[in-house]
Amino acid sequence: MILITGVAGFIGSNTAEYLLRKGYEVIGVDNLSTGSYENISDLILSRNFKFIKCDILNEKKLIEIFKKHDIDYIIHLASIVSVEESFKKPKLVSKVNIEGTLNILEIARKYDISRVIIASSASVYGDQKLLPIRENFPLNPKSIYAITNIVKEYYSKIYYDIYSISCICLRYFNVYGKKQNPNNPYSGVISKFIYRAIKDEVLEIYGDGKQTRDFIYVDDICRANLLSLKCNKKFGIYNIGSGKRRRIIDIVKLLEKILNKKLKVKFLPERKGDVKHSQADITLAKKDLKFEPKVEFEDGLKLTTEWFLSKFKKH
Ligand SMILES: NC(=O)c1ccc[n+]([C@@H]2O[C@H](COP(=O)([O-])OP(=O)(O)OC[C@H]3O[C@@H](n4cnc5c(N)ncnc54)[C@H](O)[C@@H]3O)[C@@H](O)[C@H]2O)c1
Repeated sequence: MILITGVAGFIGSNTAEYLLRKGYEVIGVDNLSTGSYENISDLILSRNFKFIKCDILNEKKLIEIFKKHDIDYIIHLASIVSVEESFKKPKLVSKVNIEGTLNILEIARKYDISRVIIASSASVYGDQKLLPIRENFPLNPKSIYAITNIVKEYYSKIYYDIYSISCICLRYFNVYGKKQNPNNPYSGVISKFIYRAIKDEVLEIYGDGKQTRDFIYVDDICRANLLSLKCNKKFGIYNIGSGKRRRIIDIVKLLEKILNKKLKVKFLPERKGDVKHSQADITLAKKDLKFEPKVEFEDGLKLTTEWFLSKFKKH
């Protein structure tokens, strides 16, 4: 049985759906702070899925869950996922992301968990002189959110070195796809662009739009999560991205093509903590995890737009 923390969120709900399709039993926990019950309402019908509302800071409840269920693996995705929030509430974001991860690692130690997958982030790199970015490049965090991801990785390494808990940390780059919440102010740019485009609202670009990101479709992330559970390595830190980069401004052009209409764009000042360019070198994930991104950006954007149209278009 696989336990997913943050199951009601964007990546968590997609990962749960993917694992259920592959025949695994999944138990999901979430405190429903940014995630929603709606994201998992279709999964509840499966007899292989169980949802428990639980905060990862609530050790007592976590222990109850692990006592009651035969859990082999943990995919730890629950966190406060926001650079801006981490500047506004540094102590809260650090508590949830760091202490929350520590609770999960402690549980893994006590209950003999075979492996823990820890969600980290490309934010740990900040701005880099060289692209694409390899895992051994110097870390250069530009936000408290990024620091929390580095600390999560270090804790995982110590839990592996000292207690032999197998941990695979995945540095996801910019993930996009269905079930990404466009109304969360901190959510990814693609969901916001598509949502606003459908509603004929103005698309907001921070800076000149020439900044680049490595966008990866959520199905590829779900596959990376499963491959990490199965790989032969006992510890590792891996970039999970497409290996390519796109300019923000070019997404607008692609969306205009997909939706067959001109979109309204407004340029705003750059945001603090935002990096200029980002692109993953995924050689290591290819080698150790046998990870290969499968969804081309144009196809992923089309699939995401179709999903948003089915959900949000006024009839
Ligand atoms: N989406 C991306 O582009 C991206 C990129 C890099 C890394 N990540 C990482 O992937 C993971 C999942 O991100 P996401 O995009 O699905 O975000 P999300 O906000 O959609 O999901 C996070 C989930 O965690 C839950 N949560 C928050 N605090 C909790 C707590 N104290 N107890 C229990 N549940 C709690 C939220 O309710 C939410 O459902 C995060 O660790 C994030 O740092 C995401």
